[in-house]
Amino acid sequence: MWFEAKVPSNIAFLKYWGKRDAALQWPANDSLSMTLDGLATVTKVKVLSDHNLKSKGEHKFFFAGEEKYRDDPEGAKVFKFLDGLAQRFDFRGCLEIHTKNQFPTGCGIASSASGFGALTIAAIAAWTKSESLAELEQNGFSLSSLAQLARMGSGSACRSFWGGYVRWEAGENADLQRCQQALPSEHWALTDTVVLFSEAKKARSSSQAHLDAWSSPLFKVRLVELRSRLEAMHQALESRDMDRLGPLLETEALEMHAVMMSARPATYFFDHETADFLVWFREQRAKGLFKAYFTIDAGPNVHVIAEPGEQQAFLRCFSKDFSKYRYLSDCVGSGPQLGFSN
Ligand code: DP6
Repeated sequence: MWFEAKVPSNIAFLKYWGKRDAALQWPANDSLSMTLDGLATVTKVKVLSDHNLKSKGEHKFFFAGEEKYRDDPEGAKVFKFLDGLAQRFDFRGCLEIHTKNQFPTGCGIASSASGFGALTIAAIAAWTKSESLAELEQNGFSLSSLAQLARMGSGSACRSFWGGYVRWEAGENADLQRCQQALPSEHWALTDTVVLFSEAKKARSSSQAHLDAWSSPLFKVRLVELRSRLEAMHQALESRDMDRLGPLLETEALEMHAVMMSARPATYFFDHETADFLVWFREQRAKGLFKAYFTIDAGPNVHVIAEPGEQQAFLRCFSKDFSKYRYLSDCVGSGPQLGFSN
């Protein structure tokens, strides 16, 4: 029997950048994101009944149709994550796993968030024979506990377990962190248009770059500011106030990149296309052609956040001036799904 999870990616409005403790996956600050709809990872898992982990059996893991192994760079994190789950819950069966992203991997769309989200749900559903999210909960795996497990694979994954707008609070110690929905998707139908300047995998992973954040002279100053910025963003979302939310989104994204660029070693995720686009974007907005704002994750691509009518206005301008670049159009979504087939 196959268990199939579809877990969307999320775009951070207030970024998780820097860790207090990397081993415990304890973030330096609280973060806030919008869960996406179509940009998702789909992962299908079954238990291989004749292979047992205790008798040195091994999982079979396929990413986009290609088998990956324990010592592959792409396989290592997945196998380590599965080992952690099997050990903690005494799961014994080896798994066959097929996973695919519905978007390009490793270029500023949080593929690790949807990837570890979908792996966590599908693997635990297969191991516990849970056919729905409700059954997973009955078997002891609530969304909150699954989110905490997924976080160990990739921090931002914990925010993909709810639809709408989600807050991940760092807490007083690593065990007190929690993640929860701040507002449901129906509250405000925002869109995200991802402008793709590069579909190549990034040279430096965000996990590596996170660790350098503390070396930036800007980082500690940023952490002091963030509490009030988070509350201001939350209020702007609550009151569906784009004039307040938009500038906060842009400050936040640029500040995170300033921290990355001023860290030692420095990480530059911007391409010259990213910079050219931002100049154009601000000029067009100042002319009153659309009301949209940008944010950028750990990659060169730009996420344009807007209400649906304004997304159309933005795309009309974009298609005239930037027609050589591809874009992905998405919107706020309602969270993970789990199904099964024979
Ligand atoms: C820039 O969750 O990818 O997207 O926990 O090391 O896997 P790890 O990092 P990851 O970091 C995401 C960073 C970000 C901002 C965000 O999503 O909040």
